Amino acid sequence: MTKLRSQLWFDNADNQEMTALYLERYLNYGLTREELQGGKPIIGIAQTGSDLSPCNRHHIELAKRVRDGVIAAGGTVIEIPVHPIQETGKRPTASLDRNLAYLSLVETLYGYPIDGVVLTIGCDKTTPALLMAAATVNIPAIALSVGPMLNGWFQGKRTGSGTIVWKARELHAAGEIDDDGFMELVASSTPSVGYCNTMGTATTMNSLAEALGMQLPGSAAIPAPYRERGQISYETGKQIVEMVHSDRRPSDIMTREAFENAIVVNSAIGGSTNAPIHLNGIARHLGIPLDNDDWQTLGHKVPLLVNLQPAGEYLGEDYHRSGGVPAVIGELIEAGLLPHPDALTANGKTMAENCAKARSENRDVIKTVGEPMKRDAGFINLKGNLFDSAIMKTSVISPEFRERYLSNPDDPEAFEGRAVVFDGPEDFHARIDDETLGIDANCILIMRGAGPIGYPGAAEVVNMRPPAYLLKKGIHSLPCVGDGRQSGTSGSPSILNASPEAAAGGGLALVQTGDRVRIDLRTCTANMLVEDAELEARRAALPTRPFAPESQSPWQEIFRDRVGQLAEGMTLKGADQYRD
Ligand code: FES
Ligand code: MG
Repeated sequence: MTKLRSQLWFDNADNQEMTALYLERYLNYGLTREELQGGKPIIGIAQTGSDLSPCNRHHIELAKRVRDGVIAAGGTVIEIPVHPIQETGKRPTASLDRNLAYLSLVETLYGYPIDGVVLTIGCDKTTPALLMAAATVNIPAIALSVGPMLNGWFQGKRTGSGTIVWKARELHAAGEIDDDGFMELVASSTPSVGYCNTMGTATTMNSLAEALGMQLPGSAAIPAPYRERGQISYETGKQIVEMVHSDRRPSDIMTREAFENAIVVNSAIGGSTNAPIHLNGIARHLGIPLDNDDWQTLGHKVPLLVNLQPAGEYLGEDYHRSGGVPAVIGELIEAGLLPHPDALTANGKTMAENCAKARSENRDVIKTVGEPMKRDAGFINLKGNLFDSAIMKTSVISPEFRERYLSNPDDPEAFEGRAVVFDGPEDFHARIDDETLGIDANCILIMRGAGPIGYPGAAEVVNMRPPAYLLKKGIHSLPCVGDGRQSGTSGSPSILNASPEAAAGGGLALVQTGDRVRIDLRTCTANMLVEDAELEARRAALPTRPFAPESQSPWQEIFRDRVGQLAEGMTLKGADQYRD
């Protein structure tokens, strides 16, 4: 029989006194000695669903099916509450809580009698938080996506969650809809339980959990209310018991090869610019080197296959019906684009065994490599005196934007503009419509004070809208640069996740409104055209902790003290050194 970790608590012949103490309290709600001492793996269900977390709330229901699967396979279930993370509910930002949920789940998994764990993932930060914890504790673990919401509809058109907000705010700023119209349009995008139905950070990270091999094949894309969602929950419960018996651990699945596969899949699905932060962070907790250069090298040339909003037209139900992640991977394998088809997955099979035969079932929604939505759909990694690393998704540059900024035949793929600098989102909202700033189409909007230290957790604010007076003239986007993040549901070609951030003394701390800034997408550089001596003088004049307002909670203070930069995954110093 497998030697189980939980036997140290519940069946330790060397210390009967402690065994009795550990055991008696878990019997008190009706568990039997047979369930705790009978050689049955104790399976934790790391529960992220609650009334506070609507995106993941359906996991409360799905856990019943997971439980049935675990019991059918001979295991015992202990459901574990996870610190709540709701992307749209937590102030100042949910990403502050990624590392908190990580830490608390590590302590729970490490300190209690758990042999294997089902990670209930969904809303943006829940997926990386739980995968990071599994990476650190390294007990057998499998992820279960809660699934996206059903498609949203308004007046016969698909409305995607998150994405519709960017559209609605433009219509509102231009005076085309009123306040009620704004609310009605936005709410149409969220018709059921589940997470965002767009290719935002949630669908991205759930797809990548599958591409990493940490979910059953086909699991990521099933919409939350579909019957298959309950069925895959049952299968996931059965699988984790097998994984405990086989001792298949996160470090066996989440290898460097698996991360390389995930980077390629991220380009093919049109994944969120939050993905490098989270994958670099998960890799760091496994001791695997992974950085934004890897994202450019491995991912930039990969074509976009998935036609989902914000890059395309469709939504989550369409993605699932067209074959979901296995179809994307099958298309990539056929074209020889998946770097490691032999990577191991949670069910003990390789990626190729799971997905090589899968194909797109609707080529409008999931395209083929031969006829993709776009070529070169991955990120580039920009560097220069503004920052050491910042990500840009060049494939979302609109024809309008390309015509205006990137069409100079003498200097292709490069543009220069006058910097207009905002110190955090509040400053942006207060001043963007101020005509005395003189913002025109030749300006580059810069957002600083929005990184992990500056706005604890890093705000999703870099995709700044142009002033209302430019929107009315038909100018829908200006170049944006910033040390914060951007919602995965936004399709803006911003230059974001700039590291180091201004609050950590990065170059963005030195830029001033009126500076000329030059961006060159060919050489992947971004520089302020300011003399070095002048930059040194500006640096000497900086306060000790620039662009970082007072913390509002103890956790913010601890987080700011220990957090790394976005390019390195925003992990906590010390925590990311720890391995099982
Ligand atoms: Fe939770 Fe989008 S807000 S998934
Ligand atoms: Mg988000």
